[in-house]
Amino acid sequence: MTDKLIIFDTTLRDGEQSPGASMTKDEKLRIARQLERLRVDVIEAGFAASSNGDFEAVQSIANAIKDSTICSLSRANDRDISRAAEALRGANSSRIHTFIATSPLHMEKKLRMTPEQVLEQAKLAVRFARNLVSDVEFSPEDGYRSDMDFLCRVLEAVIDEGATTLNIPDTVGYAVPELYGNFIKTLRERVPNSDKAIWSVHCHNDLGMAVANSLAGVKIGGARQVECTINGLGERAGNCSLEEVVMAVKTRRDYFNLALNIDTQHIVAASRMVSQTTGFVVQPNKAVVGANAFAHASGIHQDGVLKARDTYEIMRAEDVGWTANKIVLGKLSGRNAFKQRLQELGVSLESEQEVNLAFARFKELADRKSEIFDEDILALVSDESVTAEKEQYGLVSLSQHSETGERPRASIVFTVDGKEVRGESDGNGPVDASLKAIESLVKSGAEMVLYSVNAISGSTESQGEVTVRLQNSGRVVNGVGSDPDIVVASAKAYLSALNKLQSKADRVAAQG
Ligand code: KIV
Ligand code: ZN
Repeated sequence: MTDKLIIFDTTLRDGEQSPGASMTKDEKLRIARQLERLRVDVIEAGFAASSNGDFEAVQSIANAIKDSTICSLSRANDRDISRAAEALRGANSSRIHTFIATSPLHMEKKLRMTPEQVLEQAKLAVRFARNLVSDVEFSPEDGYRSDMDFLCRVLEAVIDEGATTLNIPDTVGYAVPELYGNFIKTLRERVPNSDKAIWSVHCHNDLGMAVANSLAGVKIGGARQVECTINGLGERAGNCSLEEVVMAVKTRRDYFNLALNIDTQHIVAASRMVSQTTGFVVQPNKAVVGANAFAHASGIHQDGVLKARDTYEIMRAEDVGWTANKIVLGKLSGRNAFKQRLQELGVSLESEQEVNLAFARFKELADRKSEIFDEDILALVSDESVTAEKEQYGLVSLSQHSETGERPRASIVFTVDGKEVRGESDGNGPVDASLKAIESLVKSGAEMVLYSVNAISGSTESQGEVTVRLQNSGRVVNGVGSDPDIVVASAKAYLSALNKLQSKADRVAAQG
């Protein structure tokens, strides 16, 4: 009989921990809906005890999502676990994921606890969580660098307390595939009650091996859950990438012989949504979701693919949701056609009011740009002002003048809490002048640590998608804006980052 591989997505928790990738409650809910469409088995929606914002995000996802299990992370203490249970109360199916570090380094330097104290706390935490929910996952943080004998004792004890999933993190991305696979295998052989729980892998990508390590944990070690994120989003070099693991298991079913629930046709939309929401651009040569992943540029390859697809293609682009750059809608398209295209793209807007707002923006765009591509529509609905609650800053209009040999100037009108203000400035270029015009009034003092422009559909007629990353008082946020005019897109991105700087609450770090 074929075993099932459980896909546990942690984009909204471990992915979001990446500096600058923090998301609003609405953004998280939108991504959670896309993960549900993708038929992800478990969605780790956040770390409820880390901040009120995270609590509310987990709660709203738990209330809205019906088909996936919703999970919250919590440290191994009663307060965190109670908060997680409270946030998850409305879920059809819920899981508490509790963790404590077990490596000598983390126990001594970070926790300042003895191994016996850690063992006791792990047991108490799982016992407490099991009294609140029936599905409890336990992770020994930095598990891969832990002492094998001690780890076996901890894992045996937490299974006895009722842990239903045991997740073995390679927290710092130190593992290599064969060793990690054998590590999981040895644990499963040595822990006497190992058959009472599902074993899970959680690998970070510091050495670029997160996917390979996870797959080795599955193949060699016998793990039946993989923890991963869309686009491999995550702290430092990121987490194991969902799309790569899923497509490896699906494409090489002959080797893995595992069944998956995932509806792979929603992968590309999920990738775009996460990238547009966080501003973390996907590299063109990224497997599965990169713009070049299915492009056959060389003459030999093109010729081969035209004669017989499988000469150079091992997966079908359509199977992961790639559609050719199609002109889908235009100036004359009506509201119903627009709504239907949103549905086909897997986008569901919450209310008729949001559809109306998105449609009005679409009409505005179609007046300026004759060909509207799927990418334009996705960018348009991921524009925060369509879905977000009232923001502090919003763009009204912008004019700028630049001419060879003259210093560019910009004048910008934007709203601050609904009231219009006008800022003016010169700058090195029109973008610089526009952002300085905003800053001359807002005076955020934030430092810009990243500015990038990407042509959404690849030509000069395309909309520009701009990402701005700002840093202020230790906080890092990304703002994204799109428009056919890249100066306007830049101003939108800057205002969006300022809105995030205003709204982002202080939070407790998961691995602090
Ligand atoms: O990488 C890690 O150790 C984690 C745990 C909190 C599961 O993300
Ligand atoms: Zn992690």
